[in-house]
Amino acid sequence: MKILITGGAGFIGSHVVRRFVNKYPGYQIVNLDALTYAGNLQNLADIAQKPSYTFVKGNILDRAFISDLFKTYQFDGLIHLAAETHVDRSIKDSTAFLQTNVQGTINLLDAAGNTWRKAKGKLFLQISTDEVFGSLGEIGRFTENSPYRPNSPYAASKAAADHFVRSYGATYGLPYIISNCSNNFGPNQFPEKLIPLFINNIVNREALPLYGDGNFTRDWLYVEDHAAAIDLLFHKGSRGQTYCIGGENEWKNLDLARQLCHLSDRKLKREPGSAEKLITFVKDRPGHDKRYAIDPTKIKEELGWKTEIGFEQGLERTLDWYLENRQWLESVTSGDYQKYYLSMYGKKGTNQNQIG
Ligand code: NAD
Ligand code: TYD
Repeated sequence: MKILITGGAGFIGSHVVRRFVNKYPGYQIVNLDALTYAGNLQNLADIAQKPSYTFVKGNILDRAFISDLFKTYQFDGLIHLAAETHVDRSIKDSTAFLQTNVQGTINLLDAAGNTWRKAKGKLFLQISTDEVFGSLGEIGRFTENSPYRPNSPYAASKAAADHFVRSYGATYGLPYIISNCSNNFGPNQFPEKLIPLFINNIVNREALPLYGDGNFTRDWLYVEDHAAAIDLLFHKGSRGQTYCIGGENEWKNLDLARQLCHLSDRKLKREPGSAEKLITFVKDRPGHDKRYAIDPTKIKEELGWKTEIGFEQGLERTLDWYLENRQWLESVTSGDYQKYYLSMYGKKGTNQNQIG
């Protein structure tokens, strides 16, 4: 099997690439990544020399290059993770989200469609998010039948990409599966997302900027459990179907931040309560979705998927990884990161948007 994984140098992609390279040494795994600010080859240093692994630096927006890549390798399947992924960046400027997430996906669909149309055994696996469903109230969970109601430009771009995937299935018979997963956490996540941002700030004794009242709920899944779900979907999922993936593990942001603070004080051998003092309520994110929660019954019952890593265990593993890999954190937070951070949160540690 020759499999193309896009975005393999990013957070989730690196865990998926590692799993496939280690578990299926007979496959040829090609990781295509443009190495944007979120892509980092250090994430895959441990498997970089394996004979079944190839890294290709390239942009999914380059149609001719993508088409040539498909002709050269004659892929049997594609796991599509490459994307712009941060909601706050999409609020500041949605252009790159439209380009990479929508046009980039169309370029891959065209390249795959031209080589595989209706071919049996091939698969375009579109890795999407629960954010396409919009926000939940206090009760209920998203299922495969939930309507798409994206609220952020990021979610809108992922929703558009999913619709294109589905339409290529209906119109051209392209074999596809779409997965909608909840919030992931774990090693290698860029410190712009809640958990790694807060870990980095705790380490540096800087403010932990919690949006609004902190009562926003996310359903957290350890990244390796997501990689295991992707493995199952790739090998056993039904073509033309969508699958919801989630940890059945809802946390309000404030409770999660407190949990992380307690754990960090212990690991860093600091006085209990010292990290929690850094929590700072700041101006809310516009269009902020109140609650996400996934009902993963379909993937559990149809394919036997279940979470293997409990939340506390996953959080501890994540924190340990960031504390043991300070050099990774320092390298990704140098240069442009400082500019990004200042534009988002104001002067470090003092937070110009502070409301309480
Ligand atoms: P990430 O931002 O960490 O990584 C994205 C990767 O894509 C990077 O390596 C980047 O270099 C690459 N990339 C970006 N633009 C590219 C382009 N034009 N051409 C080639 N490569 C490009 O993202 P992530 O959090 O690992 O998410 C991966 C996928 O999973 C995304 O499609 C995202 O929508 C989806 N997803 C993420 C989560 C989550 O909690 N992080 C949850 C559900 C679904
Ligand atoms: P994030 O990690 O950006 O993921 P998403 O928006 O895709 O769910 O944010 C997770 C939650 O944490 C979300 O409710 C927004 C909130 N949040 C903060 O309160 N402060 C922050 O600095 C960040 C980045 C997120």
